[in-house]
Amino acid sequence: MYGMVNKALEEMVCARRGEDAWEEIKERAGVDIEVFVSNDAYPDDMSFRLVTAAAEVLGLPARAILEDFGRHWILCTAQEGYADLLDACGMTLPEFLSNLPSFHTRVAMIFPQLEPPVFECTERTEHSVRLHYRTHRRGLTPFVEGLLEGLARRFDTRLAVTLEQSRDAGADHDVFLLEWA
Ligand code: HEM
Repeated sequence: MYGMVNKALEEMVCARRGEDAWEEIKERAGVDIEVFVSNDAYPDDMSFRLVTAAAEVLGLPARAILEDFGRHWILCTAQEGYADLLDACGMTLPEFLSNLPSFHTRVAMIFPQLEPPVFECTERTEHSVRLHYRTHRRGLTPFVEGLLEGLARRFDTRLAVTLEQSRDAGADHDVFLLEWA
């Protein structure tokens, strides 16, 4: 994944627990990189090792780290670095969700080697939608849940997220029922 992912994780950990915790996490993960370059691609495995080590060092389940990271990604990383891109995707939660399937096509203009997730919206109503999430990567469902929470906060909208089908439980891909007030 692009370096901006590891960099964002570093920023989140340093903001919450300080630089010493991040150095310990890198050491545990066997990552000997001083500075992550946003536009360079790094092996996926490195990001996963960092999350596992962060869970150990911070004494939290990996799923909690990923959820927190999803919220941080929307409210800090994307907002600080790519506000225009976010604004262009929609000014309300329902609008943003309906444009989400094409969102990473724009991101890929900045990061040409992007291997993005695939989102699809079905059964849209005025107050709900089913969001389908497909990826070749494993274990990122809690990250998506955190991203959705971050979006709900961004738009100051109450959102209920129900994981209706899960790849971990044998489904082909994850399906979330999203309902807003
Ligand atoms: C300006 C905002 C955003 C940027 C710049 C961005 C960029 C990226 C980048 C660089 C990756 C790593 C993939 C790779 O390097 O191959 C990624 C992954 C991912 N993004 Fe985004 N993204 C943004 C917003 C969003 C939003 C709004 C969502 C959904 C609500 C989202 C969902 C994901 C997910 C789930 C992954 C993990 C990869 C996977 O599932 O396979 N992103 N994104």
